[in-house]
Amino acid sequence: MKHLTILILIMMASFFSNGVLAQNIKLPAPDLSGGTTLMQALNERSSHREFSAKELAMDHLSGLLWAACGINRTESGKRTAPSAHNWQDVQVYVFMNSGIYLYNEKNHELELILEGNHQAAAGLQDFVPTAPVNLVYVGDYAKMEGADTSRRDFYGGINTGFISQNVYLYCASQQLNTVVRAMVDRDALHELMKLRPEQHVVVAQSVGYKP
Ligand SMILES: Cc1cc2nc3c(=O)[nH]c(=O)nc-3n(C[C@H](O)[C@H](O)[C@H](O)COP(=O)(O)O)c2cc1C
Repeated sequence: MKHLTILILIMMASFFSNGVLAQNIKLPAPDLSGGTTLMQALNERSSHREFSAKELAMDHLSGLLWAACGINRTESGKRTAPSAHNWQDVQVYVFMNSGIYLYNEKNHELELILEGNHQAAAGLQDFVPTAPVNLVYVGDYAKMEGADTSRRDFYGGINTGFISQNVYLYCASQQLNTVVRAMVDRDALHELMKLRPEQHVVVAQSVGYKP
């Protein structure tokens, strides 16, 4: 009984400090029929640095992450983005006002890494905390089996590029604003996100509704 009371108090404290209860988030299935045509999305693809403060709807969050690197072939577990040797070395961390999450593409859910609003840490530009979602792309060198150590940055960078462009195209097709960003404090993020030494922050990407 005593433990239950403490648990309830912790949950209430978390709820009132963040406005929402931070926990793992099971995403709804992505809507594979929505959005503009690919050619229209390519025509609209562009970087924007202004965002509405409105939280991203669950349907948009689901579509965004599935487009980024969701599983599109369940039989092989392969993803919407290619990766050298199918290493699937790049993972997407999602900064939202309620916390930092890791996108688990196998379960299509967000795993809570750290509670609280850490958006300001997701980049070095003033607009970064104004976006409701900041994606941080992390290359896990431990997954690059057999890779020449001097080529790991190259593979991490190029594999991230595919994911980022998927996000750009999804945003263009859904009239969302986005910009990819190399200007991040990688050391600070590494510590905050409790990354292992073999994990490396590549770039980040802000996403939100148009103001
Ligand atoms: C690897 C890479 C790093 C970038 N880093 C930043 C950044 O740190 N901050 C920023 O505001 N924009 C950044 N951008 C966005 C570029 O400024 C933008 O893509 C460029 O101005 C062309 O505009 P467009 O994307 O609308 O075609 C980056 C783009 C790339 C591809």
